[in-house]
Amino acid sequence: MKKNIGNALALYPTPVVVVGARVNGKASWSLVAHVGIVAHDRLLVSLYGAHYINSGIKESRRLSVNIVTEALLPKADYCGIVSGNKADKSLLFNCVEGEDGTPMVGESPLTMECRVEDIYECNGFENFICSISNTYADDCVLGENGKLDYNRLKPVLFEFPTYQYLRTGSVIGHCTDAGKEYKEHQS
Ligand SMILES: Cc1cc2nc3c(=O)[nH]c(=O)nc-3n(C[C@H](O)[C@H](O)[C@H](O)COP(=O)(O)O)c2cc1C
Repeated sequence: MKKNIGNALALYPTPVVVVGARVNGKASWSLVAHVGIVAHDRLLVSLYGAHYINSGIKESRRLSVNIVTEALLPKADYCGIVSGNKADKSLLFNCVEGEDGTPMVGESPLTMECRVEDIYECNGFENFICSISNTYADDCVLGENGKLDYNRLKPVLFEFPTYQYLRTGSVIGHCTDAGKEYKEHQS
């Protein structure tokens, strides 16, 4: 028997990322868990309007999305509790510039350099709809076929209800295999 627990936002875990942008001429970094996919070539980054980084994103129309690994977590978590409104976070990471001029986290093995295409405002949040200009991947997260291998990358996940970070789990199957097997047994 399922219990109605209200209108709980229950779509977790999500990957947690460090978003980078240039604010007032310097790099700045914020931790963001509310990221999503809105088309095959668009992603969404949801940032509260009062955050320091937002003005820089709106001015430059550029941001980077840097995947967080366990090794990166202490600094990533720090930029989720300290605002650029109070402290200079520009030197927190080794800042490298993408081909589009966007500050990116050098220590992250996987970074997407993005352009803001649209902003959807909702309940005090600025939701940046972005296209991806370039994706930079460290060799250590690419498989033999040259494709991204998430078992090597092991992105850190986040869930809101208990406010915890989770490890990526193990492989349980190839997409469509279980569905095909189920379909065969239907006929
Ligand atoms: C685990 C975690 C996840 C977070 N996810 C988001 C998020 O999705 N959107 C958001 O606006 N803030 C999020 N935050 C809060 C910001 O990262 C935090 O307020 C940060 O200090 C803002 O930095 P800024 O003011 O320098 O931009 C998160 C914080 C933590 C610890």
